[in-house]
Amino acid sequence: MRTHYCGQLREQQLDQEVELCGWAHRRRDHGGVIFIDLRDREGLVQVVFDPDTPDTFMIAERVRSEFVLRVRGRVRRRPAGTENQDLPTGQVEVLGLDLEILNRAETPPFQLDDDDVSEEHRLRYRYIDLRRPQMQQRLRLRSKIARALRDYLDRNEFLDIETPMLTRATPEGARDYLVPSRTHPGSFFALPQSPQLFKQLLMMSGMDRYYQIVRCFRDEDLRADRQPEFTQLDIETSFMSEEQLMGMMEDMMREVFAKVMEVALVEPFPRMSYTEAMLRYGSDKPDLRIPLELVDVGDLMSTVDFKVFSGPASDPQGRVAALRLPGGVRLSRKEIDDYTKFVSIYGAKGLAYIKVNEVARGRDGLQSPILKFLPDDVIDAIVQRTGVADGDLIFFGADRANIVNEALGALRVKLGHDLGMVERGWRPLWVVDFPMFEWDEKEKRWVSLHHPFTAPKDEHMELLRSDPGACHSRAYDMVLNGTEVGGGSMRIYRTEVQQEVFECLGIDEHEARDKFGFLLDALNYGCPPHGGIAFGLDRLVMLMTGASSIREVMAFPKTQTASCLLTQAPSAVNEQQLRDLGIRLRKAPGEQS
Ligand code: AMO
Ligand code: AMP
Repeated sequence: MRTHYCGQLREQQLDQEVELCGWAHRRRDHGGVIFIDLRDREGLVQVVFDPDTPDTFMIAERVRSEFVLRVRGRVRRRPAGTENQDLPTGQVEVLGLDLEILNRAETPPFQLDDDDVSEEHRLRYRYIDLRRPQMQQRLRLRSKIARALRDYLDRNEFLDIETPMLTRATPEGARDYLVPSRTHPGSFFALPQSPQLFKQLLMMSGMDRYYQIVRCFRDEDLRADRQPEFTQLDIETSFMSEEQLMGMMEDMMREVFAKVMEVALVEPFPRMSYTEAMLRYGSDKPDLRIPLELVDVGDLMSTVDFKVFSGPASDPQGRVAALRLPGGVRLSRKEIDDYTKFVSIYGAKGLAYIKVNEVARGRDGLQSPILKFLPDDVIDAIVQRTGVADGDLIFFGADRANIVNEALGALRVKLGHDLGMVERGWRPLWVVDFPMFEWDEKEKRWVSLHHPFTAPKDEHMELLRSDPGACHSRAYDMVLNGTEVGGGSMRIYRTEVQQEVFECLGIDEHEARDKFGFLLDALNYGCPPHGGIAFGLDRLVMLMTGASSIREVMAFPKTQTASCLLTQAPSAVNEQQLRDLGIRLRKAPGEQS
């Protein structure tokens, strides 16, 4: 139906006759001449209709926004002074000779170039929203990124293998999406939170190198970088060390960034231990573009006459940390109050601060509501350790370590953005040396920091029994500009170790057999050393396109409450469907509890 895409026309096509198909982006009547901006995937071109071709002109008069058109016309140079420098096609226009309305359109629910449309509206009419050039570019870049990843993996002998969607619960730590079985009344499939167990089984099957671009499902609290269904680039390898795998994966990232964005990422990616990341950034995914760091001051505070500080300072679970903000004396009372409110989201009970007007004047050069609690030697030590200069401000967090880390870690990022301190560029990082387990206060038991198939470090094997909290794993996360884009580990490949880890997690033999019997069996039939990683493709594309949320790089995302505004899913089902599945609802839809 066409010879060119609208957005492709240049001076090269001058005087050629072309045929185009697309949508009427805008129609303008200009004293007897009609201009239609015709839009397709590749861009816009201006088509001009004049009354010299009266039949065509009459059709052009009937065109409205978003009508689907087919145009035959001749490319000509725009008259001097009317070129549009902002448009790649802006040197030329098409003189319309024939015009066919392929389809009419109702007045669209919003203008495509209106930047102020609510997300709800955009999601409800996603097919129109996706016509916007920005969305087209994002999805196109997504496709390019996926292709570059596949290219790399194909070249490195990885096999693309599919794994089941209807499966058993896998322990990635979120809630499962369940699917009732009709043929087995009372039984349910779970949609995979990841293909973790299957990819390990594929290694036991001798596939050696596997990858898959695969949908994963997690029923968890949603955020800007989390969706209930999202896409992983999932990878598993046999007979490779973590060094080799990490080297290959960052090589892959460098290639993709170079191919798709012409960006050269550092080689090698820097590495940081989990412990160091928490100490310096309060986060296991530090954004290295923000030049602010936490400093421990607990040792200075254990004897001060200020319970808020001395309490956590003398508690082994506690932490007192300082965050130096260069130039921070400029912050107003209100701004500090707002930051105090901000950290309270993370459970912080306050946000003490010291304004440093003049370091040389000692105590007199400082300004703070907590100064009166701090003796001179402590003040000197704080000034020393934080390295403050005149005009700086020091924030303090004191509480259980995890609260201080979350609160000051988030504050650090917020300050960086609010005060324009985020450096330009790409700062990839491997975070390594994770603990195997985290203590779950509520359940009073150890839980896996990654998942229960992650191998402990060889030299920490003994600690599984004696001190699980001190045992480190062979896991690694890839972090890019403060977002965890990927995570993986070397796996356990011996039954005894797997059983010991289950024991640490409080999974008894019976439960282990019930849930993972097939894996335990498979370990006994010749399991190679293996390990892998999974990348969040949506997150990677979000970062590479500069989008503010992963919803912006998914064609049909869900809302914050995990529903689809376009199709109105999830929805009620009829009585017969429920009956077939042997299900009776505890409450009828809409019934109050
Ligand atoms: P993990 O749970 O770390 O590891 O997931 C891997 C990567 O997937 C992305 N991700 C998400 N993206 C969008 N929405 C979500 N709800 C979401 N959850 C996770 C993140 C994350 O780094 N099976 C292991 C991998 C392995 O060990 O090989 C796994 O799934 O970018
Ligand atoms: P208060 O004595 O409770 O008025 O607190 C004095 C200062 O300490 C205020 O600036 C509070 O914001 C701050 N503060 C209180 N609790 C904490 C805490 N857990 N961590 C850091 N600062 C705190």
